[in-house]
Amino acid sequence: MVTASKVLDRVLVLEMVRVTECAAISASKLIGRGDEKAADAAAVEGMRDALNQLAFDGTVVIGEGERDEAPMLYIGEKVGSAQGTGPKIDIALDPLEGTTITAKAGPNALAVLAIAEEGGLLNAPDVYMDKLAIGPGYPEGTVDLNKSVSENVRSLAKAKGVEPHEIITCVLDRPRHEAIIRELRSLGCGVVLIPDGDVAGVIATTNPDTTIDMYMGSGGAPEGVLAAAALRCVGGQFQGRLLFRNDDERGRARRWGIEDLDRVYFLNDLARGDVIFAATGVTDGSLLKGVKRRRDGTITTASVVMRASSGTVRWVDGEHRRGER
Ligand code: FBP
Repeated sequence: MVTASKVLDRVLVLEMVRVTECAAISASKLIGRGDEKAADAAAVEGMRDALNQLAFDGTVVIGEGERDEAPMLYIGEKVGSAQGTGPKIDIALDPLEGTTITAKAGPNALAVLAIAEEGGLLNAPDVYMDKLAIGPGYPEGTVDLNKSVSENVRSLAKAKGVEPHEIITCVLDRPRHEAIIRELRSLGCGVVLIPDGDVAGVIATTNPDTTIDMYMGSGGAPEGVLAAAALRCVGGQFQGRLLFRNDDERGRARRWGIEDLDRVYFLNDLARGDVIFAATGVTDGSLLKGVKRRRDGTITTASVVMRASSGTVRWVDGEHRRGER
């Protein structure tokens, strides 16, 4: 059982929704405008403004990049209005998970963040991570990142009580995943290919309505930590291994204090203790509806916020009657 953190006051649960709402509303002005950078910048600005209104001593541990790469919400940036006096909180954030999706008005773009007590979130470098996730209700070890695609499908099918070909797996549509997709198809499995947005892809395994049983493949390591934070709250299994393309990336990992570069990370290695995860839909998706603007100027949002210690999941519909932020 996860005990409730004294630092993560329950009031913060709903405050987190305000933060992701703000980022999503700001980004929504750029939906379908073909400008990924502008959409991301708008989301970053919205999220930063909202974070700085909260009375805590926050540190961004997963953000838009290192200080020299990102003007705002960089790793190590302090946010919150109670620096030195308020509760010390670590924040993993992605103000716009799905910049390309937003630019093209595709599905599943989200504004996302997770918070934990200081030291509760893995300071993951911005490299790729090999990911494997399944939903809740299966024995620990049903799937294993060190096993083959076929072994994992067969093991999951056995645990679910179905034939292997009935297993449905979500995979990012990338050339690097050709071998995984081929192996899944050779077993007769359903493969749901997503253009972007693997945080939503991983979370989809926890929602029976999506019919997705498993998530496989590589994507951003920061997104892996965010997805793991969500699964810590709603259940499910996740394993991740950092992937390095060159020595520069290995060096980055070592700078973050990561010594065993081949380590397989489990949920509790990525997000420890009490964790709050929040997301607001930017565009319509499997998890949440996107931001909508009504003719009278009202903006509607759909968000979810969850907490590991209580296992509570709240779906929050917002009507923002004063319109623009
Ligand atoms: P961005 O919002 O930063 O564009 O990330 C979208 C995303 O699809 C993530 O969900 C995923 O983890 C990563 O990009 C995959 O990286 P790549 O596009 O290099 O395959």
